Amino acid sequence: MAIERTFSIIKPDAVRRNLIGKILTKFEDAGLRPIALKKIHMTRAQAEGFYAVHKDRPFFGELVEQMIASPVVVQVLEGEGAILKNRDVMGATNPANAAEGTIRKEFALSIGENSVHGSDAPETAAQEIKFFFNDDELVG
Ligand code: CMP
Repeated sequence: MAIERTFSIIKPDAVRRNLIGKILTKFEDAGLRPIALKKIHMTRAQAEGFYAVHKDRPFFGELVEQMIASPVVVQVLEGEGAILKNRDVMGATNPANAAEGTIRKEFALSIGENSVHGSDAPETAAQEIKFFFNDDELVG
């Protein structure tokens, strides 16, 4: 399988509960390597731009408020089949449906406060990485 890069966010609910290390361990144990990461406090414009694909969904307002409430960690994960692997490690969007051992099963509070975001396809991974990182920040 090809080496891929994908984009990941450790969301405010998880950062507030001091879960950055535990969540990174899940990714690392699955063979995903953080090649770039930074802690930021998203602006409203960033959150609205990043989630623009959801702007007509009923949960958009709440999603933006949750994402700007407190800091997040944005990161690029690299590894074999990283896009699908990341989604496997995260588990289903709704923690009620997430499999045992996944990040969302273990840590998520609700569908909104679901601890992590991950790109869903190669095109979105490339767009989302570019949204938060310059090329020279991806240090391999
Ligand atoms: P994420 O992977 O970050 O992508 C969009 C986010 O919207 C999703 O995770 C959830 O946190 C949030 N969300 C809130 N309500 C819903 C819903 N009903 N369906 C899908 N996503 C939702």
